Amino acid sequence: MIKNPTDNNINRGEFLRSLGMSSAALMAFYCMGTGLTACSKSDSSTPTPTPPAAGLTGNADTAAGAINFTIDLTNSNYSSLKTVGNFMKIGSVLVANTTGGKYVTIQRLCTHEANDAVSYGLSANKFTCSAHGSVFNVDGTVSVGPATTAMKLYKSTISTDGNTLTVTA
Ligand code: FES
Repeated sequence: MIKNPTDNNINRGEFLRSLGMSSAALMAFYCMGTGLTACSKSDSSTPTPTPPAAGLTGNADTAAGAINFTIDLTNSNYSSLKTVGNFMKIGSVLVANTTGGKYVTIQRLCTHEANDAVSYGLSANKFTCSAHGSVFNVDGTVSVGPATTAMKLYKSTISTDGNTLTVTA
């Protein structure tokens, strides 16, 4: 006989197992039932998406080797980066056109719990992770926790005509 999960004689896990649910299904059930906090890391730290190929040459994915790529800022896939204050996630990194038109490239995933929730804000000239509120300076160092580890900074070099950005490890 299957007992009701509210029955004090059986906990929720035992109840679900009695229904024949696998461990994975149980985990999914717990995630749904306990909100996003406990499961937010795996939900948002998705594999590196492939950046648009047109306008990019080289490697933007740390899983494929050292970061070393060039983007054509006249290409419509990347031209928004010409505007100060804009940022774009490209493969494993995040490129921002920061205060004064200085390009800064940092790792894409937050050093706190690897969430893909980092953005650049021009008014503060800082990077913020919306997952738990960590703030990083444009040199990658932590400004506000909970993160305690600096974001990796990549070398960003803009061409003299301002149309080509090269990012290297
Ligand atoms: S993952 Fe926690 S602050 Fe970014």
